Amino acid sequence: MIRSMRYALCLVAFACAAMAADKNAVSISVDAAGAGPKIDRNVFGQFAEHLGRGVYEGVWVGPDSKIPNTRGVRNDVVAALKAIKVPNVRWPGGCFADEYHWRNGIGPRDQRPPTLNPNWGGVIEPNTFGTHEFMDFVQQIGADAYLSINVGSGTPAEAADWLEYLTTPQPTALAKERAANGHPAPYPVALLGLGNESWGCGGSMTPDEYVNHLKVYARYARNYNTAQPMRRIAVGPDGADTGYTEAVMKAWKNKTWAWDIEGLSLHSYTVVKWPPSFKATGFDETEYATILKATLNMESLVSTHSAVMDRYDPDKKIALVVDEWGAWLAPTPGSPEGFLEQQNSQRDALVAALNLNIFARHAARVRAANIAQMVNVLQAMIFTRQEKMVLTPTYHVFHMYVPFQDATFLPVQFEAGTYKSGDLELPRLDAIAARDSTGKVWVALTNLDPNRAASIDLALAGKRVARAVGQTLAAPKFDSVNTFESPAVVVPKPITAKVAGGKITANLAPASVTVIGLE
Ligand code: AHR
Repeated sequence: MIRSMRYALCLVAFACAAMAADKNAVSISVDAAGAGPKIDRNVFGQFAEHLGRGVYEGVWVGPDSKIPNTRGVRNDVVAALKAIKVPNVRWPGGCFADEYHWRNGIGPRDQRPPTLNPNWGGVIEPNTFGTHEFMDFVQQIGADAYLSINVGSGTPAEAADWLEYLTTPQPTALAKERAANGHPAPYPVALLGLGNESWGCGGSMTPDEYVNHLKVYARYARNYNTAQPMRRIAVGPDGADTGYTEAVMKAWKNKTWAWDIEGLSLHSYTVVKWPPSFKATGFDETEYATILKATLNMESLVSTHSAVMDRYDPDKKIALVVDEWGAWLAPTPGSPEGFLEQQNSQRDALVAALNLNIFARHAARVRAANIAQMVNVLQAMIFTRQEKMVLTPTYHVFHMYVPFQDATFLPVQFEAGTYKSGDLELPRLDAIAARDSTGKVWVALTNLDPNRAASIDLALAGKRVARAVGQTLAAPKFDSVNTFESPAVVVPKPITAKVAGGKITANLAPASVTVIGLE
């Protein structure tokens, strides 16, 4: 109690951050001229499954809705997603994808068959948001399409037809049908998932069974749009299990001319207990620290799977695509069963930053990722309630990290120190740096300690810095949230670091995320 009062007081009086900072500032050094790999913008991808209110209401309200929309897609959500420069959106699932039949989602909307969504609450799937609506949506937000095809309950012919329908410029029967449905030009499909969790909801296949399917789908689900190269992503591991990683990479290494892939998926959520029972708000410091500790496990997962991939693919041709990640917490009390609705707190902002930092440190191999999920589901960017919309702390981290999209990763040296909570020990600080295409260097700093501000002094080798300006995301409490009634409890504030004698110094509030540009 006393601890949380002190924490709140420190944040109210911003100057207190300096007083509360420990005497030993964390020294950070960055080489501005370093030549690391590019942090692929696709690492900041989103995931929109037909699940709960993720698509229906979250994205799609229909052209006749009172909610301002463009061809049925809500304008407020589009504007918010454009601001975070979403590189790609994965759709239609998730588990939903392996029961999705694309033909149900084309043609006149009032003639589409209602079907079921057995994975997620058993609700009716109206199929009003289908292929054309999704492609229109990604075009409206300026993102690429990442489609997941149905390997679990579909057929190779169904998948092949969908790809021909979408991508061929030739006047085939399927292209003519596409044109009759309003889109004569071929669509670009940048990423194609060859199944989803085939070890689980996607068919409970052993690694070898999946590899047999993979070869067939990778051959026949062809891209005919030469203007848009398409990367095919094979189903990969569930967490730490390397069975799928070994089997897919081995098959790829020994592949014939007849098939290929460009990526391997990894799914890993921050979930401490199953079913998810950690509360999304109203939690104590032990749960705060436990969730952050579990999040940091992403580092060992990525390292483990990368090591297996390195054995078969030392040139890193195949990307590791972490296309489902994020905190999976207890559902919001009273929310519908199977809708996976959960609040999003300042702790989630740190979960996002720590994961993005891990992906950046593995930029040579991790070249795409998708947080689960974009709107109203799991660790969402955005919540909607009818005509209202609110941006979550996680959204703000994605916004602050925009400068890292396609920037060159720069190695950072620092002694993180330790944050202790009971028996748990975590690094006190996390930091990444990158150089954007204009030569400007950006640093992202996460102070994990919810009780102590952290002062940092940063030396940037190879570049004179005149100004160090950015944004910081702190909150009254580590479980603070934005709501429809109070949407600006957790929002980024400007921060200016001191530049003197070749050092950049700043105070980072407890449990905060800060991004600073060095000019
Ligand atoms: O994101 C929710 C679900 O989690 C997805 O449908 C599935 O792929 C995963 O198990």
